[in-house]
Amino acid sequence: MPDCQHLFLFLPSILSLILFFILIKRKQRRYNLPPGNMGWPFLGETIGYLRPYSATSVGEFMHQHISRYGNIYKSNLFGEKTIVSADAGLNKFILQNEGRLFECNYPRSIGGILGKWSMLVLVGDMHRDMRNISLNFLSNARLRTHLLREVEKHTLLVLTSWKEECVFSAQDEAKKFTFNLMAKNIMSMDPAHPETEQLKKEYVTFMKGVVSAPLNLPGTAYRKALQSRSTILKCIERKMEERIGKMKEGKQNPVPVPVPEEDDLLEWVLNHSNLSAEQILDLILSLLFAGHETSSVAITLAIYFLPASPMVIQQLREEHLEIVRAKKQSGEAELNWDDYKKMEFTQCVINETLRLGNVVRFLHRKALKDVRYKGYDIPCGWKVLPVIAAVHLDPSLFDHPQHFNPWRWQQNNGSHGLTAASNNLMAFGGGSRLCAGTELAKVEMAVFIHHLVLNYQWELADTDEAFAFPFVDFPKGLPIRVFKSLTI
Ligand code: HEM
Ligand SMILES: *[C@@H]1O[C@H](CO)[C@@H](O)[C@H](O)[C@H]1NC(C)=O
Ligand SMILES: *[C@@H]1O[C@H](CO)[C@@H](O)[C@H](O)[C@H]1NC(C)=O
Ligand SMILES: *[C@@H]1O[C@H](CO)[C@@H](O)[C@H](O)[C@H]1NC(C)=O
Ligand SMILES: *[C@@H]1O[C@H](CO)[C@@H](O)[C@H](O)[C@H]1NC(C)=O
Ligand SMILES: *[C@@H]1O[C@H](CO)[C@@H](O)[C@H](O)[C@H]1NC(C)=O
Repeated sequence: MPDCQHLFLFLPSILSLILFFILIKRKQRRYNLPPGNMGWPFLGETIGYLRPYSATSVGEFMHQHISRYGNIYKSNLFGEKTIVSADAGLNKFILQNEGRLFECNYPRSIGGILGKWSMLVLVGDMHRDMRNISLNFLSNARLRTHLLREVEKHTLLVLTSWKEECVFSAQDEAKKFTFNLMAKNIMSMDPAHPETEQLKKEYVTFMKGVVSAPLNLPGTAYRKALQSRSTILKCIERKMEERIGKMKEGKQNPVPVPVPEEDDLLEWVLNHSNLSAEQILDLILSLLFAGHETSSVAITLAIYFLPASPMVIQQLREEHLEIVRAKKQSGEAELNWDDYKKMEFTQCVINETLRLGNVVRFLHRKALKDVRYKGYDIPCGWKVLPVIAAVHLDPSLFDHPQHFNPWRWQQNNGSHGLTAASNNLMAFGGGSRLCAGTELAKVEMAVFIHHLVLNYQWELADTDEAFAFPFVDFPKGLPIRVFKSLTI
């Protein structure tokens, strides 16, 4: 009986296979995993997780999962075993332990588009070096003296072009502002220059690819974004070569000719870092990306929330009129850092906009070790998603979380809710990867709001709503109609 002989031969391997699975099962059983549903093989629950929903809510998927399993649950997302956290304490714990217990872990497709030297995908020493360069560029000293002035200049460039009773897309205008600002300060590209306009257009295609399914097939958004990436890189490379040429010219001249020195990131990186050309290209490409796609959405969200709260607009106007009155007396026109520091209620509006609108909804991490939290195990190697939006919209942490209420951020409110609120706002992430542009983004929002409320009144010209795809976007671009403000 040849069959029997075969069985006999294979028996040891079959037995060891069975033993192996039993051991694996044991090992798994040792973990006290959070509850949850692993969904379909491979796809898991990804499709449900990524289904669009209103940006001011946590979405149906999140809502159902939290009510069924609690704030920490397991799932299978983006092809990996995942722990999803809507828990304020765990989110903080994850971000504070970057590099020790957890590590940044964006999907490979993001690395393919942003580049392998992009800060979003780098970890360890290389991340630290790149971060240091970005922080030098965005330092408080530069913000106070240089960037604040630039922000105001680019705000006015956009706002003064608005015509009475015209209807236009607030989202496009906000993007124009943030893109021009970044292009100018990163590599001295001038607004409205054909080269700048071309680059802005490329970034639209690029953005669509960053957030699409990573299918590198003809015609897909991902493939188009990869093409955009190489077009963008060519543009940056051209700028870089021009600059190196200029810098050489300056050095070779026997008499020190005042070469027009550009105070931008490109100049700084070429002078002060030993990064390779490839690294500089990825750094600039991703800073330009991170620096304009996020803050433009935040400004659009403010333009969207404010008309529904006339009391808020009223109080904003009073605050900014007061600043303008004081400046008139001193004879100054440009905003300075002291003026910015007076925008206290505006800061409450900014926090409330970020809390309710959630520009960045969740982050990508993975566990570097077995981690135990609140009795649950997070196994080494598992993906971990801190969902910061879910904390911002948690009714046990924020009263009436769906309600746009900037006063909840006010000092001297009497209630001790404020510190709790501040501790739970994580719109810019946290720990050693806290957004490098946090302060710049707030200055952009404050200065834009300053000139907006002083000069215009506006209404939504069409129904539109912020959707989370999960990146936040207004499907119609938020059409608004503006009127000159009667206050000044
Ligand atoms: C409202 C606007 C913004 C929001 C909500 C925002 C949000 C965030 C968040 C949540 C992270 C952390 C990502 C992670 O930990 O995985 C981040 C990182 C970063 N952001 Fe922002 N950001 C904004 C504006 C900006 C601006 C204006 C710039 C720069 C010009 C910028 C540059 C960066 C950089 C370089 C990082 C990477 C930091 C690192 O990995 O060390 N962001 N941002
Ligand atoms: C960060 O940059 C500053 C200013 O150039 C430099 O003095 C410092 O040594 C850098 N730190 C690290 C860790 O590279
Ligand atoms: C960069 O180096 C060039 C030449 O070495 C010099 O002229 C220029 O002032 C430097 N720029 C900055 C921003 O330090
Ligand atoms: C730059 O130089 C420092 C020390 O000289 C080194 O540690 C670092 O890895 C270098 N960076 C790059 C990108 O080569
Ligand atoms: C104080 O904060 C609560 C929410 O924490 C808010 O509802 C209320 O409007 C605030 N009151 C004042 C006077 O600002
Ligand atoms: C806004 O939120 C940040 C971060 O939580 C906090 O530090 C800051 O005090 C808040 N600002 C106001 C005006 O409440």
